Amino acid sequence: MSACYKNSRDMSCATCHDPHQKESGDFEVFSRRCQKCHKLDDCAIADMGSRIGHNCVECHMAKNPVIGGVLRSSRNAAPILMWDHFIKARIPNSQQALRDFRGD
Ligand code: HEC
Ligand code: HEC
Ligand code: HEC
Repeated sequence: MSACYKNSRDMSCATCHDPHQKESGDFEVFSRRCQKCHKLDDCAIADMGSRIGHNCVECHMAKNPVIGGVLRSSRNAAPILMWDHFIKARIPNSQQALRDFRGD
């Protein structure tokens, strides 16, 4: 569903993931991969400075509850959160995301 996938000819999992490395949590590495195709200036908030270039991921792929996915124990239930691979320009809760990013 992502415009990234629909509008590029050869995007695959390996465009962003190197299955031979443990890279989870390294947003700089992943954000560099976004920037194989994008420039910082493509982002609507590029004027916030180069720092946004280190973390495209937490804003544009923010974790979402998997629909219906719940981990249950005898006493608790917690939703399963996964990085949202439907990359969108209009990010959910963008005002909150911007406040978090600025550290307000
Ligand atoms: C293989 C090239 C490629 C990679 C890698 C890539 N994108 Fe894209 N992306 C595109 C193309 C092509 C478009 C469509 C641009 C257009 O229509 O003008 C796009 C569109 C977008 C849009 C706009 C979506 C919309 O609905 O309008 C966002 C946001 C975006 N990309 C963010 C990212 C982020 C964040 C990453 C890294 C996690 C990333 N992209 C990685 C090629 C890529
Ligand atoms: C546009 C870049 C991009 C593409 C293409 C992509 N991923 Fe991801 N994926 C990410 C990012 C960024 C993360 C979050 C990385 C982290 O764990 O820090 C992620 C996380 C994941 C996770 C961990 C799930 C979680 O929430 O902890 C899995 C599994 C995964 N991707 C599988 C895939 C598979 C399979 C494909 C191909 C069908 C794919 N990805 C394509 C960028 C991408
Ligand atoms: C702090 C959060 C944040 C970070 C970090 C961030 N973005 Fe964005 N991005 C936004 C917001 C907010 C918008 C505008 C969304 C809206 O209009 O609702 C946007 C819009 C975009 C768009 C669509 C622009 C348009 O004209 O429609 C693209 C493409 C994009 N970002 C790419 C990126 C890439 C690539 C990176 C990393 C280099 C990145 N963004 C980092 C928050 C972020």
